[in-house]
Amino acid sequence: MEATPIAPTHLGIIMDGNGRWAQKRALPRTAGHLEGLKALKRVIKEASVLGIGFVTFYVFSTENWKRSKQEVSYLMHLLVAKLHGELGFYNKQGIRILVCGDLDGLPKDVQEVIESTVKATENNTNITCILAINYGGQNEICRAVNRCLAEGPQKNLTENDIRSHLDLPHVPPVDMIVRSANERRLSNFLLWDSAYAELGFYEKFWPDWKAEDVRTICKDYSQRVRKFGGVE
Ligand code: IPE
Ligand code: IPE
Ligand code: MG
Repeated sequence: MEATPIAPTHLGIIMDGNGRWAQKRALPRTAGHLEGLKALKRVIKEASVLGIGFVTFYVFSTENWKRSKQEVSYLMHLLVAKLHGELGFYNKQGIRILVCGDLDGLPKDVQEVIESTVKATENNTNITCILAINYGGQNEICRAVNRCLAEGPQKNLTENDIRSHLDLPHVPPVDMIVRSANERRLSNFLLWDSAYAELGFYEKFWPDWKAEDVRTICKDYSQRVRKFGGVE
């Protein structure tokens, strides 16, 4: 019998390929985003079964504002509708929702729904689902440095000072970052934490991801040797 794969404590996912998934079916890009949400639900459910503690999903980057006005407003609308509309799902599955990113830069209704969803799921303990919204790694580091400076005059900021001022300092560093749609770059995702994260790139478009893809990731992760600069 195959050994049970060792799951990462914290998995980061760059959900990519929604647009191409839709294009392949002659559908509008928005249809890809809607379908991508179904994939997110399948993936978080399986991640919970496999004992992954934290999954960070890259939902909207600080660069995604460059997209058409219609696409951006659809994505914002989807966030408001589904954060609220899927509350029953999060609570039934024991999913705690947290958010990282530059939340001040989001429309007021999105900020409000984020705040109420985080509050409504704070006692769920099966898995933590972190949504990176208006998130950019460079932006996060920059805001962390500014938070340090706001605490008073500083001599030399240490790595620990910066880490402890990131958006979610109590969340363990990401162990593995995976990306769908066969693109091989980080696109400004979790730059601080990616220093020693394992990376995995997968071909399928995000809306096609199923439970079995999470099992594949765990299997791949369990075969990595993490040395952190040391020797085995
Ligand atoms: C990822 O899919 C979703 C977001 C970035 C919001 P894309 O929309 O980037 O899909 P492609 O890359 O155009 O196929
Ligand atoms: C990264 O995907 C951002 C999210 C998944 C939210 P993009 O599709 O925006 O990235 P690039 O532009 O291809 O690097
Ligand atoms: Mg893309």
